[in-house]
Parts: sequence; C-alpha cells; structure tokens
Amino acid sequence: MKGKFIVIEGIDGCGKTTQIDELSKWLPHSGLIKRGSKLITTREPGGSLLGQKIRGLILDNNEKNKPSSLAELLLYSADRAEHVSKIITPALNNNDWVISDRFSDSTLAYQGYGRNINLEIIKTIESIVCQGESPDLTFFLEISPEESVFRRKNEIPDRIESEGIRFLEKVNEGFKQIAKEKNWKVISASQNVQTISTEIKETVLKNFSNKK
Ligand code: TMP
Repeated sequence: MKGKFIVIEGIDGCGKTTQIDELSKWLPHSGLIKRGSKLITTREPGGSLLGQKIRGLILDNNEKNKPSSLAELLLYSADRAEHVSKIITPALNNNDWVISDRFSDSTLAYQGYGRNINLEIIKTIESIVCQGESPDLTFFLEISPEESVFRRKNEIPDRIESEGIRFLEKVNEGFKQIAKEKNWKVISASQNVQTISTEIKETVLKNFSNKK
C-alpha cells in the first residue's frame, strides 16, 4: 500500500499556497488518512534540503547568474530528482499522503511551453527524474495572466516571475493543454478562497473516499 499524492499547479499568483494551507488543515480530520499515516506538504522547487539551495540558484534575480534555458531545465530536474528520492517516495512508501505545490508538469508548462524547449526532451528527462512517481490527483488553479500580474503587483518578483505577461500566457496555455490531456481537475481561481477550497475538498473526497 502506498499513500496518496496530490499536486496543485497553476501560474504564479493563482493561490496555490492558500489552498494547500486550507487542504492540509482539513485533510487530517477528513477520515481519509489512515491512523498511523501522516500528511506531508511540500513544494517544488525547494522541497528537500539540497532543493532549497537549488531554489536559491534558479530564482536568483541577479542577471549575471541567469542560467541558460537548458541549465534551468536541468536545475529544476535535479531539484525534482532529490525531492522524489528523499521526500516523496519515502513518504508514499510509508503510506503517508503528500501534497506538493507543483511537480513535473510545471516543467512541461514553464520550460516546455514557456521557453520552447522540445516537449519530448522534457518528457524523457522527467521519466528518469520522477522515478515512477506520478500524482494520483492534480488540481489546476486557473487564473488569467493579467490577474496573475495584478495580484503580484506589490511583491518583489523572482527571476521567473519577472519574465512578463507574454511568457505567462504561453505557460498558461501549456497548463490548459496538459490539464486537458491528463484529465486534471480545473478550478477557476478567480472565485473566492472558500469556494475554491470547498471544490478541492469535494474532489478529494470523491477521488479517495472508497480507495483507502
Ligand atoms: P513558486 O513561486 O510556485 O514556488 O515557483 C517558483 C517559480 O519556478 C515559479 O515562477 C514557477 C517556476 N517553475 C518552473 O519554471 N519550472 C518548474 O519545473 C517548477 C517546479 C517551477
């Protein structure tokens, strides 16, 4: 028996963090997680100790440290390899549940659709990096690129967030395409926090209540 793996995806500012907080407060009391199992919340990039260092490297705003597109892809992939090996697989094998703020489809959306790196190359790398792990359920919190920019107008952007609206449009289109192909649960993230949270919880119950 393995635990369940839930991923939340979406462009910057879509409210993933808030929704993961809501879900992780509710899930332990939902009756879905067996006694003796835990819930782990994690994120990419930066879910492991080494990953936190990689996160600092990838999101560094200093122009001198800007990686090439290929180096960027490989840094996200290195972060994921470590995250899977050290955090995700051990937790799932221990029958624990894992909620991750982003996983491999962020690479497909940002580096593939956003940076135009060949999707087949990315999928090949991912097939090595993910080591057989894939989400049991993925949510796509959908907002427009305009809304994304508006919501973050008072924040200092990281390097990827500084890419501008055209880049975000391509990433968002990528997410929409992947969501269709992989049958994700798509939720309009322009609704209020409680409505989104209720929809997420109902979907989790529907997917997992008979499959403990
Ligand atoms: P976060 O702000 O959601 O923590 O993610 C940091 C940034 O990294 C965000 O702009 C999306 C980007 N990103 C990629 O470009 N590729 C990836 O594979 C991942 C996981 C994140």
